[in-house]
Amino acid sequence: MSEFRQFVADRVGQFVDPNTGMDLDASKAVQAVAVSGSQCALELKVNYPAKRYAEELARAVREHLLADTRITAATVSVSWKVLSHKVQQQLTPLPGVKNIIAVASGKGGVGKSTTAVNVALALVAEGARVGILDADIYGPSQPMMLGVTGPLTQVGDKIEPKRNFGLQIMSIGFAIGEDTPVVWRGPMVTQALTQMLNETAWDDLDYLVIDLPPGTGDIQLTLCQRVPVSGALVVTTPQDIALIDAKKALKMFEKVAVPVLGLVENMSVFCCPNCGHVTPIFGTGGGAIMALEYGVPLLGQLPLDMRIRELSDQGRPPVAADPDSAVTTLYREIARKLAARLALQARNKQIGFPSIVIQST
Ligand SMILES: Nc1ncnc2c1ncn2[C@@H]1O[C@H](COP(=O)(O)OP(=O)(O)O)[C@@H](O)[C@H]1O
Ligand SMILES: [Mg+2]
Repeated sequence: MSEFRQFVADRVGQFVDPNTGMDLDASKAVQAVAVSGSQCALELKVNYPAKRYAEELARAVREHLLADTRITAATVSVSWKVLSHKVQQQLTPLPGVKNIIAVASGKGGVGKSTTAVNVALALVAEGARVGILDADIYGPSQPMMLGVTGPLTQVGDKIEPKRNFGLQIMSIGFAIGEDTPVVWRGPMVTQALTQMLNETAWDDLDYLVIDLPPGTGDIQLTLCQRVPVSGALVVTTPQDIALIDAKKALKMFEKVAVPVLGLVENMSVFCCPNCGHVTPIFGTGGGAIMALEYGVPLLGQLPLDMRIRELSDQGRPPVAADPDSAVTTLYREIARKLAARLALQARNKQIGFPSIVIQST
């Protein structure tokens, strides 16, 4: 290899991808390096959806290369491909679904469903094929948030998922109505959910996002044992009481050997719609401290923003309805990091990525 080519290869390899938190060498993203005189052309490949983002990454890598004056011109192309990732031992992956991501929270009302749907939509915007399964039997909210209603129809011996905003959607709410109180016991809930999961005609999904029921009881535990989950996202609010519950969720995933891909702190700060003043009404830093303590990355912090609530209630989640807004940018970042962390999980051991250490409290 020529000296200059080696120099370019080394330099590009040092670029840290903000989504994986790792350099391009470590994440094996560099596919080809070609040089001519003091010019170079590079091909990169990432394992998270990046239809929109590819250009931004290419630009950043190019700037990184050109920051060294020995390189006078650089062309960078970025391609992406979503791989299937490991599921818990003894479970078989679901046909037609490459990866299942479980979204959990220790308790209700922290914005789990809102986060799940917007992250799912952000993955769609990056070119991925995505489904969402609303597993919150006691309070299904995806039909309302996505503006879709039942009844369900059949295709062959399977149930056809509903579709909106490019998402494939299944919710217990389509079958029982959102207003019908559910008085099922644990085993029935688990059965209904595994049935929805297995009997939906999911059409070639890169990601199936599961909006889990809130809490960390038997239902959640059984579900996580039965469902071939590749990774989990835990949503919390910054106040102590919610964090205690979120810790239980982390422990639950550890018990069932599902890697926690990250934490999202929702309702981090309140932005006053009138004066723009920012107030941390639920306290500050809780998510960050917890992330450090547990060795789980904090993938993002979302403000308490009235638009999120308004659009969600109208069945138009911000990522779909308001693509240029600041919160959409935040959801996109979270989605990219989530997908990138998932892609890295498979190689954790080899590359010494910090594993999750759950301490007892
Ligand atoms: N970041 C946010 N800013 C403003 N409202 C939010 C935010 N996240 C969620 N909400 C609202 O809070 C309520 C509860 O959110 P939801 O996602 O249903 O919580 P969970 O699924 O955890 O019970 C909903 O009305 C939702 O629109
Ligand atoms: Mg919910």
